[in-house]
Amino acid sequence: MAHAYPGRFSGRHPGWPAQLGPLRVPAGVVALRPVRLRDASAWSEIRIRDEDHLAPWEPTLPGGWAQRHAAAEWPGRWLQLRSAARRGVALPFAVTLDGRFVGHVMIGNVVREPLLSAYVGYWVDSTVTGGGVITAAVALVVDHCFSRVGLHRMEATVRPENGPSLRVLEKLGFREEGLFRRYLDVNGAWRDHFCYALTTEEVRPSGLAGRLVAAGLAERV
Ligand SMILES: CC(C)(COP(=O)(O)OP(=O)(O)OC[C@H]1O[C@@H](n2cnc3c(N)ncnc32)[C@H](O)[C@@H]1OP(=O)(O)O)[C@@H](O)C(=O)NCCC(=O)NCCS
Repeated sequence: MAHAYPGRFSGRHPGWPAQLGPLRVPAGVVALRPVRLRDASAWSEIRIRDEDHLAPWEPTLPGGWAQRHAAAEWPGRWLQLRSAARRGVALPFAVTLDGRFVGHVMIGNVVREPLLSAYVGYWVDSTVTGGGVITAAVALVVDHCFSRVGLHRMEATVRPENGPSLRVLEKLGFREEGLFRRYLDVNGAWRDHFCYALTTEEVRPSGLAGRLVAAGLAERV
């Protein structure tokens, strides 16, 4: 078998929409589901409160932070994400902790044959960091991308200053592939980013979630 993709791309995602998990980690029970229109108030409350936690790592965009993250902005973003998911170029997941919305794991730039590749991005509410939430969430999403979605390579780009994000990728076994100079305009300037990647051969046979469970870092519930 050359790769896990079950057939030529038909215009719809294999593996979307999907519910992933749950996995229990020290912070609580982590699961993923598609983003929803009714995430607006939780999304806005966290994003506005957490500007200092999030802005240093996110692309520079026009408009003020509070204005861009007002609840009224979410329906437009949600429609764009839903459309991208329907076109097969993204998998926009909401992360829940004990059933409560706490962040996103976004799969974007899905490129089908011959690359079968995508990038992963993520953020979480600052009040729940350090409890294994995003490590578990990314593990579940990458396993899903390498199985039902049929991708072969997942990539993540991270600023060298972003210790917690580098640690997440290290815990999951992502490989450092190099440094992209002035790669992305983040927080007002062109910033270097490390490129990390994983291919499906590297996570067999147990998958990333299976590895976390075997290492005692997560538990299936
Ligand atoms: C990066 C982020 C998503 C991690 O989420 P999380 O749920 O806290 O992640 P986890 O708890 O699974 O793992 C975080 C790890 O970083 C470690 N860590 C925390 N601060 C750290 C620091 N300054 N330097 C190095 N490691 C650090 C934690 O101890 C933990 O590792 P451990 O399990 O070995 O103790 C979260 O910090 C966040 O939302 N940051 C802002 C947005 C962002 O950076 N997104 C990614 C852009 S590439």
